[in-house]
Amino acid sequence: MGLLRKVLVPFAGLVLAFCFYSVREDFKPEMLQGKRVIITGASTGIGEQMAYHLARMGSHILITARTEAKLQKVVVRCLELGAASAQYVSGSMEDMAFAKRVVKEAEELLGGLDMLILNHVGSSYFGYFNRDIEHVQKLLDINFLSYVTMTVSALPMLKGSGGSIIVVSSMAGKVGFPFVAPYSATKFALDGFFSSLRQEFVMQNINVSITLCILGLIDTESAMKAASKVYMVSPAPKEECALEIIKGGAFRQREVYYQYTSTKIPLLIRDWAPGLLDYLIRRNYNLESIKEN
Ligand SMILES: NC(=O)c1ccc[n+]([C@@H]2O[C@H](COP(=O)([O-])OP(=O)(O)OC[C@H]3O[C@@H](n4cnc5c(N)ncnc54)[C@H](OP(=O)(O)O)[C@@H]3O)[C@@H](O)[C@H]2O)c1
Ligand SMILES: *[C@@H]1O[C@H](CO)[C@@H](O)[C@H](O)[C@H]1NC(C)=O
Repeated sequence: MGLLRKVLVPFAGLVLAFCFYSVREDFKPEMLQGKRVIITGASTGIGEQMAYHLARMGSHILITARTEAKLQKVVVRCLELGAASAQYVSGSMEDMAFAKRVVKEAEELLGGLDMLILNHVGSSYFGYFNRDIEHVQKLLDINFLSYVTMTVSALPMLKGSGGSIIVVSSMAGKVGFPFVAPYSATKFALDGFFSSLRQEFVMQNINVSITLCILGLIDTESAMKAASKVYMVSPAPKEECALEIIKGGAFRQREVYYQYTSTKIPLLIRDWAPGLLDYLIRRNYNLESIKEN
């Protein structure tokens, strides 16, 4: 038994690592050609970059966010880059009626759906928990409940196409990070809900994949503005991040870790030495730039 463990476990690890990396090298942009995709939170940041990648791959794109002027610009750029079609719907995901409407628009404009990319996040603060319960509730609506609402509305179309749901989460959705308590709660909720749903889909033979994306710090404008003075970690590029998310979705992976070394590797410590991981995380903060509530 001892020998079996000493030899088999590392061997299985190597085989898995090999499969993981070789699968990713087979990615072909044609996999997304002609696919009908909704991307939420696509007026800026990672969502905007995902729209550009999918445009280059020739997908039909429906983007959404609140700021109409930005969405218009992203649509124009998507068409220049070669999107099969590109359209937008503007509105706020605080409103569940709007979340449903986006899916309805996809049905009318695209006649179906192959990929639902849930990526938007409401703005929050970066600092000690300020005891504002209403903010927690509002953020749960935007970051969690609207994801569930869109999933429910889109499921009939996704079942029809054997489609995919991509849920963009964070390291803060797997382990506790300071200064983002409300945000962290919404991301943990996504993991619980969508991991449970994935199990049920397998049991019910529903051929809709669910890919949860665990991201480290990414160099989007909003993240840099919120965290760059306090959180002393070098960010990864949003363009590459966006591509890795799309690849993971196309391969129907259960989870995407980006960047691998700053997400998957630390999480390996989590269950065995959670105190150590907490300590390593705390070391990355410059507390002088954080104000007490
Ligand atoms: N950047 C990072 O370091 C990082 C790290 C881990 C995980 N993530 C995750 O990656 C995803 C994208 O992050 P990002 O940095 O690209 O974000 P971002 O640049 O701040 O973009 C957020 C998007 O959500 C939209 N949005 C905000 N409030 C909304 C509302 N009430 N209703 C509808 N749309 C709304 C914004 O557009 P409008 O303002 O026009 O509505 C924007 O398009 C998020 O799920 C985030 O949690 C990011
Ligand atoms: C599930 O859907 C995918 C993508 O649409 C397809 O390639 C695969 O063959 C389907 N699997 C089954 C069991 O129908």
